[in-house]
Amino acid sequence: MAGRFADKRVIVTGASSGIGAATARQFAAEGACVVLVARRKDALEAIACEIGADRTLVVAGDVTDPAAMQMMLERTRGHFGRVDILVNNAGFHARGQLEQCCPEDLARMIDVNLKTPVTLCRMALPYLRRAGGGAIVNVASLAGRVPGGGAATYSATKFGLRAFSLSLAEELEGSGITVSLVSPGLVDTQFFADQVELVAPMAFSQPMSTAEEVAEQILACASDGRRERAVPQLAGWLCTAGYLLPRARRLLRPWLQRRGRARKEQYIRRKRLHHFSPAPPARDASEGVSDLR
Ligand SMILES: NC(=O)c1ccc[n+]([C@@H]2O[C@H](COP(=O)([O-])OP(=O)(O)OC[C@H]3O[C@@H](n4cnc5c(N)ncnc54)[C@H](OP(=O)(O)O)[C@@H]3O)[C@@H](O)[C@H]2O)c1
Repeated sequence: MAGRFADKRVIVTGASSGIGAATARQFAAEGACVVLVARRKDALEAIACEIGADRTLVVAGDVTDPAAMQMMLERTRGHFGRVDILVNNAGFHARGQLEQCCPEDLARMIDVNLKTPVTLCRMALPYLRRAGGGAIVNVASLAGRVPGGGAATYSATKFGLRAFSLSLAEELEGSGITVSLVSPGLVDTQFFADQVELVAPMAFSQPMSTAEEVAEQILACASDGRRERAVPQLAGWLCTAGYLLPRARRLLRPWLQRRGRARKEQYIRRKRLHHFSPAPPARDASEGVSDLR
């Protein structure tokens, strides 16, 4: 099949919904064979059925299980012959202030969002080298560019993933293997839909993206190897400016929160979440909601 990724073999973790599912569909539409990885087998099989059984491989499993992931890489090689691209997209967010989160959820966030992509990159590198080169794309978050109260651990995992990706990209320079990072702001997926009341108004202050828009940037990174893309780009610049100028960030925060609160209410109305009762006005970033995604 012709296309930008004709005959490429692509592994996408977290492919059962949201950004991962959109990414798998777009890679397939551009000619790739796709390995769909996540825990929900039924959801993966439905996407495989849509794309076509001959160009997909479903591997149901927990990404935090290294033995299962080693087996997944071997199955990919057995089935498709090689691995060209790895997209580390699976993610988990337990929302709320640190003291409200149980230790198991905090550990799980670190496992799924940081430890797993590091381990999977390590495991996949020999396969990418054997294929003569390739690309790794890690899905982080704008929460990995600017600190966010109410999301300390999630933010730490995404800051960590960003540091890891940028460092690994330097380590692999000239190897024929590129490492990229895609950092989205709020994306309209199930990731926060069940807990929308816990998402800080601040997160809604920037335009919300679709899973398809983020997937486009993942494909762009896999194609040109650019080290980092934010979605939307302007929100990425604002986060970087906010990180570098914390005083300015604190001054702007009330205005951004007002703007975000209005957009959040609009979003909830649109989604017809009638049971929602608006949260009291945010006092500062240390309130019991997450500032970012
Ligand atoms: N939505 C946002 O606002 C937003 C913003 C910034 C960054 N992100 C990042 O984008 C990525 C994708 O999120 P999304 O928005 O597409 O949310 P989503 O629709 O909830 O997708 C999350 C995916 O991760 C998979 N997953 C979670 N834990 C897993 C585990 N232990 N083993 C295997 N798979 C696991 C889930 O599959 P199963 O449940 O089937 O296992 C699912 O496919 C995440 O890394 C997230 O941090 C999202």
